[in-house]
Amino acid sequence: MDESFAPPAAFQAQARVSGIAAYQKLYAEALAHPEAFWGDLARRQLDWLQPFTRVLDWDSPHAQWFADGKINACYNCVDRHLAGWRRNKAAILWEGENFEQRILTYQELHRKVAKFANALKKLGYRAGDRAIIYLPMIPEAAIAMLACARIGLIHSVVFAGFSAEALKTRIDDLEATLVITADAGRRRGREILLKRNVDAALADCPGVRRCIVYQHLGAGIEMKPERDLWWNDLMFGSSEVCPAEALPSEHPLYVLYTSGTTGKPKGVVHTTAGYLLQSQMSMQWVFDLREEDIYWCTADIGWVTGHSYIIYGPLAAGATTLMYEGAPDWPEPDRFWRIIEKYRVNLFYTSPTAIRSFIRQGDSWPQKHDLSSLRLLGSVGEPINPAAWKWYHETIGGGRCPIVDTWWQTETGSILIAPLPGAVAAKPGSATLPLPGIVPDVVDAAGQPVPAGQQGFLILRQPWPSMFRTLYRDDERFRENYWARFPGAYFTGDAARRDADGYYWVLGRVDDVINVSGHRLSTMEVESAMVRHPAVAEAAAVGRPHELKGQALVVFATVKGHVQRSPELAEELRGWVGQEIGGFARPDEIRLVEALPKTRSGKIMRRLLRELVTSARVAGDTTTLEDYAVILQLSQQGKEEEELLQKSE
Ligand code: WT7
Repeated sequence: MDESFAPPAAFQAQARVSGIAAYQKLYAEALAHPEAFWGDLARRQLDWLQPFTRVLDWDSPHAQWFADGKINACYNCVDRHLAGWRRNKAAILWEGENFEQRILTYQELHRKVAKFANALKKLGYRAGDRAIIYLPMIPEAAIAMLACARIGLIHSVVFAGFSAEALKTRIDDLEATLVITADAGRRRGREILLKRNVDAALADCPGVRRCIVYQHLGAGIEMKPERDLWWNDLMFGSSEVCPAEALPSEHPLYVLYTSGTTGKPKGVVHTTAGYLLQSQMSMQWVFDLREEDIYWCTADIGWVTGHSYIIYGPLAAGATTLMYEGAPDWPEPDRFWRIIEKYRVNLFYTSPTAIRSFIRQGDSWPQKHDLSSLRLLGSVGEPINPAAWKWYHETIGGGRCPIVDTWWQTETGSILIAPLPGAVAAKPGSATLPLPGIVPDVVDAAGQPVPAGQQGFLILRQPWPSMFRTLYRDDERFRENYWARFPGAYFTGDAARRDADGYYWVLGRVDDVINVSGHRLSTMEVESAMVRHPAVAEAAAVGRPHELKGQALVVFATVKGHVQRSPELAEELRGWVGQEIGGFARPDEIRLVEALPKTRSGKIMRRLLRELVTSARVAGDTTTLEDYAVILQLSQQGKEEEELLQKSE
């Protein structure tokens, strides 16, 4: 019997959705009449510039939601809050890594966004153009995103930890004509020279007409005449009057690149109205957002969590959203707890990876701080192990805060499986039950539902408003990756089981995607980076369970004929991958080997390598393995290395 935690009575008494019956009623309504359900919410919760008459056009796998309506995401996140007292409410609370503080009220946010949008218009940018945003975690990132949305520019935020190479790939794929960046960002006291990466990327991107640079740290950088412009210069002369454009509901709001099973990242396309509706609704349902709450999501705006739960969801809901620039352990391991105490944070949303590293640092760090303002805790990115759940519950939540374990993906746009905190009892390790309107199932390889308790593939049977619409300029891959495996249903790429209470337990990816510290990495992307190095012949990347990161990245590689295998080369290759993709993708370990195990048809058997790094021996089916000696040799080598390491310690 899995342990279960009922919603605390005091929380339930005041919750937006209170008690299990209220959740069941909502869920049943949405299931019986999905169009009436979503149509009604869309009319009541969003402000329309032209009302819609159609709710859903579903030509599987292509959905259009509220297709004949017109709307503006920026208007819904900013302008509509100006009519009443909310104009003086803090929209964004910003804390810099060096303890600086900035507060933008909704009115001030509006002023800055309108000015920046006007500046973009003056430069000739129009609805449908693509802009890359490559900024640190500063309010200008939010301003840039919202300004794009205001005039219909499709933005693509590139995580500031990505390399020049990764940045260039995204600029090319998107055929972007604008880059918005900063001189530099901060990470643990170091300066990350963003503009320098942009210069390297743009050396070979003639399509980019302009690069707007926000001066954040005053780092010495070069400005290229004609192309580069200072953010402040543009803002200085810009008018505050910039009406939000009425855009079709299905106008693309952004493209966000995420890793798939090939070397090429996928451009996930989200559109406007449906995305906005569901990110806002989930703020209210899952976080039980109240007007006076201070809400903090610790993600980076470079990932989908930052888009949906730092910017669009909270601002559409009129929340106060906190944004922190720096690292969790800077200057000391209690930085997060300090911030919670300083701002009296009520709702706190972070990742299992972060939680596990806090556990390791010891309870004395949170105990130094008054965390009594916290009302609810959230988790996202990977399954949270029950031990971490309980520590989070006790040590951070003081035993009184519900925990919402939220399952979703870049593709789903918003949270789809999570407990409504005043209604659904939590079971540590389970994301629990689907939100209203979401119809998951767990099926076997033939697409048949599996009995309770058994493992299978997690699919979604009904379209939902915040679903991605396609992959940018690759609809074929969209169909093949997500909709071909189980006809009529969306395949998540995750394995899961459903227990006798209908609770979902997501077990992790079933494809060649690994999840390192809650960041999705494609094994193919890492392998492609490896073989770009002149010394490498072949590479195979796999995940190994890791206490803190969830999974660690291990790469097996063979070298070219004339090259000597050495620890120095392995180290050099780790740095190389970090440079090619971004520091977060730097492999934990590189094993230079004699040969890689392959099937008779020449496919690398990653499964065996995975087993090898997981259990240090291979027991699985090896009937298709070309040369069994290879695997023996690999495991022998692993053992010898381990022995050597132990001796040297
Ligand atoms: C994959 C999506 C959604 C924002 C962060 C990651 C895993 C995510 C959970 C959870 C178990 C989870 C899944 C999913 N995942 N949240 N609460 N429990 N697994 O977004 O990079 O698109 O990755 O993260 O495997 O498919 P992403």
